[in-house]
Amino acid sequence: MTYRIAELKEYISREALQQRVAELGAQISRDYAGQDLVLVAVLKGSVVFLSDLMRYITVPHSVDFMATSSYGNSTESSGVVRIVKDLSMSITGRNVLIVEDIIDTGHTLHYLLRILNERGPSAIHVVTLLDKKERREVAIEVDYVGFEIPNAFVVGYGLDFNEYYRNLPAIFVPKEGFFQGETD
Ligand code: PRP
Repeated sequence: MTYRIAELKEYISREALQQRVAELGAQISRDYAGQDLVLVAVLKGSVVFLSDLMRYITVPHSVDFMATSSYGNSTESSGVVRIVKDLSMSITGRNVLIVEDIIDTGHTLHYLLRILNERGPSAIHVVTLLDKKERREVAIEVDYVGFEIPNAFVVGYGLDFNEYYRNLPAIFVPKEGFFQGETD
């Protein structure tokens, strides 16, 4: 398997990502000053964003992970989400910040907010690196957005194509022809 980098076009550079993530980290640090905080990252796409973001957050915080899966195929979201991996710690009475790499239809986040709210946190807020706002099917409030992007397929910085390309340090859009020979 080889990465077809020549068939990708850089969309958000490594430098632009780092600068924006640093800004988000600074803003979150100001907003949570003196408060307890737990970051809840939604696997797997958010791990790269999380690992950078948490190093720009200067207030003490803990980190936990959840994994979800949607029924049906991913291009036509059924809106039905299930938990594949749950948190390992209690969020009761804590300030939760959900960390997402991308929000698309909003179904994943809508579901997560509902089930996490049932556990009695003090508050839940949301940070996402990317927001495909025009694709939204359910209304959700997003507190911190890195970049609003149009409805284009993107890879890199945690985002995958068939589980690969997550390790690219920038975000790319496929050029024409990229999807041919995708089983390489
Ligand atoms: C992505 C993303 C969100 C979800 C957003 O995860 O990380 O969790 O899709 O889509 P929605 O707003 O339409 O619900 P994905 O299912 O691609 O899994 P991954 O993070 O493991 O790649």
